[in-house]
Amino acid sequence: MTSTAQIPEYPMPRAAGCPLDPPPPLRDLQEEAPLLRVRIWDGSTPWLVTRYEEQRALLGDPRVSSEPHHAGYPSQAARAAKGGSGIGFILMDDPEHARLRKMVASPFVVKRVEELRPVVQKIVDDLIDEMLAGPKPTDLVQAFALPVPSLVICALLGVPYADHAFFQDNSKQIINRDVTPEERAAASGRLAAYLDDLVAKKIAEPQDDLLTRLGERVTAGELTRRDAASMAVLLLLAGHETTANMIALGTLTLLRHPDQLAEVRTAEDPKVVAGAVEELLRYLNITHGGRRRVALEDIEIAGVTIRAGDGLIMANEIGNRDPAAFTGDPHTLDIHRPARHHVAFGFGVHQCLGQNLARMELQVVYGTLYRRIPTLRLATDFATLPFKHDGFVYGVYELPVTW
Ligand code: HEM
Repeated sequence: MTSTAQIPEYPMPRAAGCPLDPPPPLRDLQEEAPLLRVRIWDGSTPWLVTRYEEQRALLGDPRVSSEPHHAGYPSQAARAAKGGSGIGFILMDDPEHARLRKMVASPFVVKRVEELRPVVQKIVDDLIDEMLAGPKPTDLVQAFALPVPSLVICALLGVPYADHAFFQDNSKQIINRDVTPEERAAASGRLAAYLDDLVAKKIAEPQDDLLTRLGERVTAGELTRRDAASMAVLLLLAGHETTANMIALGTLTLLRHPDQLAEVRTAEDPKVVAGAVEELLRYLNITHGGRRRVALEDIEIAGVTIRAGDGLIMANEIGNRDPAAFTGDPHTLDIHRPARHHVAFGFGVHQCLGQNLARMELQVVYGTLYRRIPTLRLATDFATLPFKHDGFVYGVYELPVTW
């Protein structure tokens, strides 16, 4: 049992030289106990849930809340504690969470996502054409990883082609580390105002897209236009940086595992690429920093009593490396490992709404990029790459590549 004096700090730094692995002390803590106390930035000591089974049990437990206003909720940082993230139903409990989630859920079912596959293929092919026609080396993050999810969300929402550049520029500003908080807020405001206008246009001239569906809810009096626009911003924010980081970091990881990259590049069977997507999601678990929750009632689990008001952090970055949940050595990358039950998309009622879309985008990307650019390689030293140690979502700020 960890004594008060020994309570470890969370999050902890990754090991120098191993930026693709979670911090080594997490592995020791997982071996030590399925849940234990950690100290976070504000001095509070929530439970860190280290093992896969307990993470899923608690994420699926209705006695656990996602709402940051409850005392004891372990905020990720001061800006999140002030409610600065503003990302709608991801921070709400049922029934309101379920009511809002249902309104935007239909485009994310497998069948609808599959209908978008040719659109995504064209977006990916066009961006690769542009990259090949441009200078090299180039930064894969700016030239490819960020534009792919941005253009896909444009297609899904129904953003007209003429506005793509405006949409992409402002989406990039929101996640750019070099802009001031004021510039970021201004970009977010411009997007919300733009989407609000677009909902009005879709009400006047309905089309087959998500903003039209949201417009119908506005007309039916179930949503205000402003709420419809903020849901669209939530989808953009939740799907943009995550998918972009999986594209860049996944590519970097495969470049570090050339045998497995060769298999992905030459695979005849789409299941090989789909398997690589699941394994990379598991192995990289880019939403590091844990799923944050607070207990609303006392909960007995794994011989521990979590008290009502105790904060909970489900550290999926180590849950996805739990030897009890994955075959073989979970600390190695193996694209043939059954990995689809990973928790990279979370678990329970908040499990990622966009997961089918994210999977399909990554399948198209990994299945196309290395085939079309078989000599793709890093244009700099691995050791000099700027990793997003400070980000809510893990990745690389830049990935210089050449071919
Ligand atoms: C590889 C890419 C992605 C990863 C790793 C990822 C990861 C996650 C995770 C871990 C959660 C759970 C948060 C929690 O339980 O607190 C989540 C929720 C969510 N994600 Fe994703 N996501 C990805 C892509 C997307 C995309 C493409 C979209 C939509 C366009 C999206 C929309 C959402 C939404 C709306 C939620 C909130 C769901 C809810 O609260 O009910 N995500 N995502």
